Amino acid sequence: MNSKPVSVEAENQGGEGSAQVVGHVLQPGVDISHKVILYLEDISVSFDGFKALNNLNMTIDAGELRCIIGPNGAGKTTMMDVITGKTRPDSGTCFFGQTLDLTRMTEPEIAHAGIGRKFQKPTIFENHTVFENLELAMKTDKRVWASLFAWLDREGRDKIADTLKLIRLDQEADRQAGLLSHGQKQWLEIGMLLMQEPQLLLLDEPVAGMTDDETERTAELFKSLAGKHSLVVVEHDMAFIEQLGGKVTVLHEGSVLAEGSLAKVQADQRVIEVYLGR
Ligand SMILES: Nc1ncnc2c1ncn2[C@@H]1O[C@H](COP(=O)(O)OP(=O)(O)O)[C@@H](O)[C@H]1O
Ligand SMILES: [Mg+2]
Repeated sequence: MNSKPVSVEAENQGGEGSAQVVGHVLQPGVDISHKVILYLEDISVSFDGFKALNNLNMTIDAGELRCIIGPNGAGKTTMMDVITGKTRPDSGTCFFGQTLDLTRMTEPEIAHAGIGRKFQKPTIFENHTVFENLELAMKTDKRVWASLFAWLDREGRDKIADTLKLIRLDQEADRQAGLLSHGQKQWLEIGMLLMQEPQLLLLDEPVAGMTDDETERTAELFKSLAGKHSLVVVEHDMAFIEQLGGKVTVLHEGSVLAEGSLAKVQADQRVIEVYLGR
């Protein structure tokens, strides 16, 4: 719905390989004609000989809400680092849709192509209002436009209003962001990501430190985002994962140990041994 036309296909028809194409992507958008938004094949990452990712294989469908669980050190954050271009894999393939080779794109190119990432600690502008935070997070062209003329076009204001409702902060629009609760700050940061219209959202332990009520509301928010967006959520909170209801992937020692419904992976003896049984 929010995918904008992109010149990739036209350029591909010109006989250029995707490696040349990726540097020229100027608008967000991704070819999901095969229903896959993210494709990782045989990804390995070593740190001083230690394999943080070890032939990792994973496919995320467009619109999917996927949970990633696994013990500390399993490689969950490193996987997100590879997807966002922060870490280059030693080997393997990592594609965003059919055409965008993430291993050949820079971090800003990947963000611009439509992958948004939320880190554990919120990175909001504490001294600005909630509204201003969303305004600042809007796409560069709009931000430049807004700051040049000191007003927001109607489309921009509507978008901020919609996002405020979605993240349940419409009553707090004029409040200083630093005064929000921990959970509200997390929602604001998710709202800031959404202002960028990402196709794929990566969320690393989004409900850590939230109250039960905030956790439940976050599950509702993520479920409402799925379909329009694809979400990959790393979490330890089993009640939250159950509420999300999506497919679960268990990582262990840098590769996939099990995958399927929460009930299925919870019943898997190997998963119980390395993770759940602790
Ligand atoms: N930049 C780095 N340098 C060295 N080792 C790292 C680095 N990043 C991660 N590691 C190691 O890689 C392994 C996987 O880490 P990480 O991806 O953070 O796991 P998780 O997020 O599942 O807890 C850990 O053993 C960690 O110590
Ligand atoms: Mg981690």
